[in-house]
Amino acid sequence: MQNFEFYNPTRIVFGKDTIAKLAEHVPAEARTLILYGGSSAEKNGTLAEVRAALAGRVFQEFGGIEPNPTYETLMRAVETIRRDKLDFLLAVGGGSVIDGTKFVAAAVAYTGDAWDILTTHGACVGAALPFGTVLTLPATGSEMNSSSVITRSRTREKLAFGSPHVFPRFSVLDPTKTYSLPLRQVANGVVDSFVHIMEQYLTYPAGGMAQDRFAEGLLQSLIEIGPKVIAQPDNYDLRANFMWIATLALNGLIGAGVPQDWATHMIGHEVTARYDIDHARTLAVVLPAMLRIRKEAKRGKLLQYAQRVWNLHDGSEDERIEAAIARTEAFFESLDIPTRLSAYTIGADAIDDLIAQLDAHGMTALGEREEIGLDVSRRVLEAAL
Ligand code: NZQ
Ligand code: ZN
Repeated sequence: MQNFEFYNPTRIVFGKDTIAKLAEHVPAEARTLILYGGSSAEKNGTLAEVRAALAGRVFQEFGGIEPNPTYETLMRAVETIRRDKLDFLLAVGGGSVIDGTKFVAAAVAYTGDAWDILTTHGACVGAALPFGTVLTLPATGSEMNSSSVITRSRTREKLAFGSPHVFPRFSVLDPTKTYSLPLRQVANGVVDSFVHIMEQYLTYPAGGMAQDRFAEGLLQSLIEIGPKVIAQPDNYDLRANFMWIATLALNGLIGAGVPQDWATHMIGHEVTARYDIDHARTLAVVLPAMLRIRKEAKRGKLLQYAQRVWNLHDGSEDERIEAAIARTEAFFESLDIPTRLSAYTIGADAIDDLIAQLDAHGMTALGEREEIGLDVSRRVLEAAL
């Protein structure tokens, strides 16, 4: 196992009717800005519960944070906070609102050009406003991690940053608040969390016994409940399990002490930035192609994945590996998530642009061994057509 430090200070407040507990966790004297996305949190009653929990406190609201949150919108929130001397943030929504809030928290405390936060991937962040979250979409794990992905619309760039200063102080997870999700977003959440686990698991054997078994358990749980959370939108136990699995998939636990990949995500971000395709859908396209192209480097873990996650025991090594990748694709497709670029009418003529973007963003040595250069990324995109 590799050396590691594991630190996760986020308090999770989980279950039905837990939004009322906000009053215990938002400091009584705080001047709070509630940040949210479009209309979903208003329509499903989440915002009403948040306002009721904070009745009598000082708070303002900032709506309109987009899916794939933009720098341009978020900088308006930064201005409001500075002008009105607000000192606590509360994100109410999915990964986009939470990521956006992390950026705002860091940008308010930063005196230079706030875009530096993205170009340095968070290295320049020395402080951030404290914030909590109320999660309405299980998918990204943003509610219990210190990462954020921000898009600058002007330049069509989508970049990630991370900093220990942007862990949420707390996150409220009420599974009933996910009942209103469109099925497409539920499917996205299943695939995004599946791929988060794969990026930390499917590398090379590193002797992390608990990490491997945790990851395999989470993958199998997703395979088991994925179709059911879509078919039964108001089944509390299914939604509760889904919500907690998605959080555990990316809160640092399964990735501690083991190599991590993230190449699928980095390529996927470029596809979203260029073609505005949902994050999870880009991953469903890139992951199977990535596994096929990197079969030799990943052979040991692919065989373990085939055996332990998909119970594939027969055939040659290559047959078991291909069967496991095919099962993965079939799982995504069963959730109505296509696994080919052509399904989004993206053809071979798009690849030069995507490779140029990867190059421009320094994504030239990706993967667990930093051996995915632009040539390999090109082969992955070609295999995904
Ligand atoms: O804007 P509203 O009206 O709220 O609607 C949202 C949005 O249209 C809707 N929604 C959310 N909760 C709902 C709901 N609709 C009905 N009922 C509810 N309860 O869902 C739509 C998508 O929301 P969004 O927040 O964009 O989705 P998601 O949570 O999948 O977040 C995606 C973003 O997270 C980033 C992605 O790149 C993307 O920008 N990621 C963040 C990560 C992290 N911080 O660790 C890791 C991930 O790999 C990912 O990159
Ligand atoms: Zn993701």
